[in-house]
Amino acid sequence: MQEVKSISQWRKIFQELHGKSVGFVPTMGYLHQGHISLVERSVAENEITAVSIFVNPTQFNNQEDLQGYPVSIADDKKKLLELGVDYLLLPEYQELYCDGYRYKVSENQYSQDLCGGTRPGHFDGVLTVVMKLLNITKAKKAYFGQKDWQQFQLVKGMVKAFFLDTQIVGCPTVRESSGLALSSRNNLLSEKDKKIAPFLHEIISKKLSIDEKSKLLAEKGFKVDYLTEKDGRIFVAAFLGKVRLIDNVPI
Ligand code: PAJ
Repeated sequence: MQEVKSISQWRKIFQELHGKSVGFVPTMGYLHQGHISLVERSVAENEITAVSIFVNPTQFNNQEDLQGYPVSIADDKKKLLELGVDYLLLPEYQELYCDGYRYKVSENQYSQDLCGGTRPGHFDGVLTVVMKLLNITKAKKAYFGQKDWQQFQLVKGMVKAFFLDTQIVGCPTVRESSGLALSSRNNLLSEKDKKIAPFLHEIISKKLSIDEKSKLLAEKGFKVDYLTEKDGRIFVAAFLGKVRLIDNVPI
């Protein structure tokens, strides 16, 4: 596995691939089985797999959240190597945001809903960095988790709106046996909250009204950010302490 830190280095590598199909998995690192399922799919479906690790500051609307975002680059590299990843892209902020974030990609409807409602600017940051990464990698396919359903839909919409050549592939949410959706943030939970967290998935999956689910979540100690039914799915974001967890399930 080759580490690629500059865009010019990747461009040179890409040229020398002579048209081999590139599968791409963008991540912010601290890799768990959810990320790994995306990487495995890319390795299976493409001649070459590139994974990026970049904690993208423009998508964090809260500085404390950005500062506290977990990092484990040595472990991540070991996992990616074992999975047969060909290239690990480690872009640097200065190069990726050479314009100082003067230019951005915005969507002005769906991005305001759900997570966008309580995290202003979040999806501008996500779409902008994904646009940059897709333009750089020129991937044939890029893999996104359905755990972040809204992100996955917005990226698909952006690719369509801007006629990008990459096919966006959505991958199922990977869960612990307790039902808790894997997330890099789960590790920030206190021991007590780790026991409560699985109730998020359990409660939203019950055949109850939104109000009843909301009440049950509050009783367990969740501070619900939003809990909504939309497009045949239930979407939730809720805090346990300072940790914000999200999930979604089909109805
Ligand atoms: P990150 O949270 O690191 O997630 C990277 C990818 O892994 C996303 O597509 C996410 O949906 C997927 N993923 C996370 N947990 C998952 C799970 N339990 N099951 C399946 N897939 C899961 O999402 C981001 O990074 C960033 O916003 C990014 C797209 C990299 C842009 O900065």
